[in-house]
Amino acid sequence: MLLLFIFTFSSFVTQAEIVGDAKNGKKLFKTNCGACHKLDKIMVGPALTGVTERRSEEWLLAWIKDNAALRASGDADAQAIYDEFGGAPMNAFPFLSDQDIYDILQYTIEGDPVVAPGPGVTPGANVPVAEPKDYSLYILLVLGVLFALLLAILIKMRNTLKVVKGEDPESLGDDIRGIWGAFARNKFMVTIATITVAVFFLAELYWYLMGVGIEQGYQPVQPIAFSHEIHAGENKVDCNYCHSSARHSKTSGIPSANVCMNCHMMIDGSEIADASGNLKYDGEPSPEIAKIYESVGWDVNTKKYIEGYEQKPIKWVRIHNLPDLAYFNHAQHVSAGNVECQTCHGPVETMEEVYQYSELTMGWCINCHRETEVDVKNNAYYEGIHDKLAEKYHGEKITVDKIGGLECGKCHY
Ligand code: HEC
Ligand code: HEC
Ligand code: HEC
Ligand code: HEC
Ligand code: HEC
Ligand code: HEC
Repeated sequence: MLLLFIFTFSSFVTQAEIVGDAKNGKKLFKTNCGACHKLDKIMVGPALTGVTERRSEEWLLAWIKDNAALRASGDADAQAIYDEFGGAPMNAFPFLSDQDIYDILQYTIEGDPVVAPGPGVTPGANVPVAEPKDYSLYILLVLGVLFALLLAILIKMRNTLKVVKGEDPESLGDDIRGIWGAFARNKFMVTIATITVAVFFLAELYWYLMGVGIEQGYQPVQPIAFSHEIHAGENKVDCNYCHSSARHSKTSGIPSANVCMNCHMMIDGSEIADASGNLKYDGEPSPEIAKIYESVGWDVNTKKYIEGYEQKPIKWVRIHNLPDLAYFNHAQHVSAGNVECQTCHGPVETMEEVYQYSELTMGWCINCHRETEVDVKNNAYYEGIHDKLAEKYHGEKITVDKIGGLECGKCHY
């Protein structure tokens, strides 16, 4: 506690000119700046940790409120940083008050809460300060209740012992009677305490689930228990066999039931063995595969399509879904970029049920574009411009951002 206080204090001392509320700043940062900035990492814009050391207070106020105006006024620093980021413009924030901006800047100074800094961290070096709101309160509460319960049990045992020895249980134990004894004997109190803690926990869990990356890991139940592990894993069916449009169009698409029928006309599942080698369905067709038959109108007995059958498409539940404002193209990545499906979708061939493996946030797209080198040499796609690029970035790595992978218009309609 004292340590934390000292850290907080020293960061105020070294950056005395800016006094803001980091907590409010964090909120403002998340809603207004988070799409383009991180504290510790370059994204669309520069990392903002330490910005108050690089720039003066007036400059920051002017820049954040209207950077275009600052540039137009002939400010050399403003022009330089703009050029450094390839002319990607930052929006203006005329609606932020000076205090709002101080709050945001205070947040860039204090940073995100981390686990209490251990020994060996140099004080004063912008050590992020633990926010008061963490889980220790709840842990304390639980420990308190556990302690009370333990005490109750001990008292009970002690009293039982007294009874065994023929003594009056109430006559002894004055030493622990006091407030704890009364508390532990009072079932009502114990119940209330337990309920309180449970409610706190559930509330916290709820907010946690609402708040963070709920879509990453999204794994809905599908209408047919289709397993990528069986198909792409064990049976080594190529991804492109079923997701054939990934190579040449925007979407990968989900195969129609007719694609399933290429194999499942022959494989009705009656020969599938379970783990111990017995027939899984006693020689009957698999009920899961039967759902494909029901969709297309296939009669297992006659091995023919039912005439005049009205086909019912399988209603797969979509897992990956970008918001409408973003544009993503599979062919660009799979064919031109030679990016493996698994880089973005994870080890699908081991998934019995597919889940969303990556964040699918703007930061995720951008980070990869900053880090991934474009394979311009052995790529028909770049034949025309390869030499020009090589000349411009003489010897440097050509990453996706250098060919325009950070331009807003490329990913936004
Ligand atoms: C749409 C993307 C975007 C948003 C949103 C955005 N910025 Fe920026 N920011 C940039 C870019 C890009 C730069 C680099 C300069 C340039 O290209 O104009 C930058 C530069 C900066 C700089 C100058 C950093 C330096 O090292 O000089 C500061 C400070 C800054 N932004 C603060 C903010 C704050 C605070 C917010 C939120 C209120 C915000 N930005 C929102 C894109 C953005
Ligand atoms: C036999 C056909 C088949 C093969 C082979 C196959 N898939 Fe699929 N894939 C499907 C079907 C059907 C679905 C929809 C049901 C589901 O989500 O499990 C699907 C769903 C997906 C999804 C989720 C789509 C969404 O809703 O967002 C991804 C990602 C995916 N497949 C990737 C792959 C990758 C990568 C491979 C190769 C390792 C592969 N698939 C091989 C048939 C196939
Ligand atoms: C390239 C051939 C092929 C294609 C295409 C194919 N499957 Fe399969 N499928 C198999 C094989 C092989 C098995 C495993 C059979 C075994 O273990 O005996 C299987 C097993 C299954 C099972 C497991 C049945 C059970 O009860 O355990 C289901 C469900 C299934 N497939 C659904 C589908 C669906 C839906 C599609 C279309 C999206 C599809 N399959 C496309 C070859 C294929
Ligand atoms: C660079 C990352 C990336 C790579 C590589 C990639 N995907 Fe995707 N995939 C995505 C994103 C992002 C979405 C969501 C697209 C949307 O909502 O518009 C998606 C969606 C899908 C879907 C859902 C249907 C659709 O088309 O929107 C399937 C199926 C899929 N991918 C399969 C594949 C397969 C198969 C491969 C390899 C041949 C592949 N993906 C390679 C990022 C990738
Ligand atoms: C795993 C790395 C990776 C991820 C993740 C990724 N990309 Fe890309 N992206 C690439 C590569 C590599 C290229 C270059 C392809 C080429 O050679 O044209 C590219 C190119 C692009 C281009 C074309 C850029 C240009 O100037 O031609 C767009 C647009 C794009 N990506 C959008 C997205 C979006 C939107 C997302 C997130 C939903 C995303 N990317 C996620 C690797 C990635
Ligand atoms: C490489 C692709 C890519 C580039 C370049 C890109 N964006 Fe985005 N952006 C996305 C994706 C994908 C999303 C949706 C992310 C999500 O749902 O969390 C998004 C979301 C946003 C949002 C909504 C933020 C939110 O939290 O919902 C804004 C605003 C935005 N982008 C502005 C910009 C601006 C301005 C630029 C140019 C400086 C830019 N983007 C460049 C891919 C990109």
